[in-house]
Amino acid sequence: MAKVAKEMVEKAGIDVNELLKLLVNNAAAELTTYYYYTILRANLIGLEGEGIKEIAEAARIEDRNHFEALVPRIYELGGKLPEDMKAFHDCSACPPASLPKDPSDVQAILKVLVEAERCAVRGYTHICNMTAGKDHRTYDLALAILNEEIEHESWFSEFLGEGPSGHFMRRGETSPFVRKFLT
Ligand SMILES: [Fe+2]
Repeated sequence: MAKVAKEMVEKAGIDVNELLKLLVNNAAAELTTYYYYTILRANLIGLEGEGIKEIAEAARIEDRNHFEALVPRIYELGGKLPEDMKAFHDCSACPPASLPKDPSDVQAILKVLVEAERCAVRGYTHICNMTAGKDHRTYDLALAILNEEIEHESWFSEFLGEGPSGHFMRRGETSPFVRKFLT
């Protein structure tokens, strides 16, 4: 635990236990989403499915990176991960991104993907609002994750025909914003 770092956050008026609960619940959302996206990606087949497999994969890997980046901050602030993975799964801040009843329905899979990203965007926006100007390290981390979640949302919403995202594919490595936390 980073004792003084935690004291500074408390002195800034943040309820560290509430913040830790949010960080653990969002870490659970990241790891469970990584798992569920693995199933969704496997079912993205055929002409339509193959077209979005690459962005689903980029989002999947980046969600795993988000989990990896959150864990050190949880322990720095004196928190910990639940010892039981089932309990960890069930405390997720977002509902499971489960495979739709008809796994061949690519539009339905896209809706699951975009809703998962929208849940994440809401969650990290809340953490940014809570930590801005008070907990600089958590704010920096949450903002980096938020940037990637917003890009994921816009990619998938574009495929749903909701409007142009202005983005193109990730060129090269994943996690352009969160990478600095993955030392
Ligand atoms: Fe994520």
